[in-house]
Amino acid sequence: MLETEFLMNARRSLELAGVWASALRAWGRAVRYALPMTTRWHDSWREGRTRFHQSDVHSDLVRHAERFLCGGPHRILVPLSGKTVDMLWLAELGHEVVGVELVPQALTEFFAEQNLEARESTEGGLRVLSSGAIKLVNADIFEVNSKHFRLFDRIWDRAALVALPPQVRGRYVRHLRSLAKPGALLLQNLFEYDQSKMEGPPFSVTDEEFQSQYEGAEVECLDETDAIEKVPQFRERGHEHWLVRNYLVTL
Ligand SMILES: C[S@@+](CC[C@H](N)C(=O)[O-])C[C@H]1O[C@@H](n2cnc3c(N)ncnc32)[C@H](O)[C@@H]1O
Repeated sequence: MLETEFLMNARRSLELAGVWASALRAWGRAVRYALPMTTRWHDSWREGRTRFHQSDVHSDLVRHAERFLCGGPHRILVPLSGKTVDMLWLAELGHEVVGVELVPQALTEFFAEQNLEARESTEGGLRVLSSGAIKLVNADIFEVNSKHFRLFDRIWDRAALVALPPQVRGRYVRHLRSLAKPGALLLQNLFEYDQSKMEGPPFSVTDEEFQSQYEGAEVECLDETDAIEKVPQFRERGHEHWLVRNYLVTL
């Protein structure tokens, strides 16, 4: 009898602890989501919440490189670049690469991890770190304009459009288009999932939204896969599908 009561009490305590833990997690998330997006990115880098970073070159970039990079060498923009090693890979193929990243820590880590010595300068009033054919601009993407930076003929957008909330995406797409030469190619990697199950980033972008954002351009969907098995962290949050699409857009 006593034993049963003890077990029931223990179970109740555990349940209560679970409720408290999830309330605390929800509170933490609410505090984080109340902050401006830019502050949240600075916090993410400082606290090491950078699971989006991959140590290998992105396999979708490699798979579509032949079409995306035909007729090079190119001047390639990597918006919201983080410290992606894709930039090094593109530069090693002979292209000129310009990454734009808000958080200084990402730039520092990129050059340190790649054992590259960076030269610091200022362009259009913005801080730039460069080494060989790679230039990283430490700025909000909206501060980079065609008055100070030559236009690009290739853009690789991985985890950039989907890093931005819906209300900013239209402005972002117009801005990217203003930085591209006529006929430039954009290789776009994006996610679509049930947004009601999770707040971004990454945000879900539907095919319909993407096609309408790039209205007037030639948009070709290269492939679509359900990658839910590769993202267990999202399956744990109740997602059944995690669609990944690649598009080639002629601007
Ligand atoms: C999801 S991460 C993707 C990074 C990179 N594209 C990759 O594939 O690893 C988004 C990055 O964009 C940066 N960022 C967010 N908003 C930005 C903005 N408005 N301008 C420039 N960078 C921004 C963040 O600091 C973060 O490093």
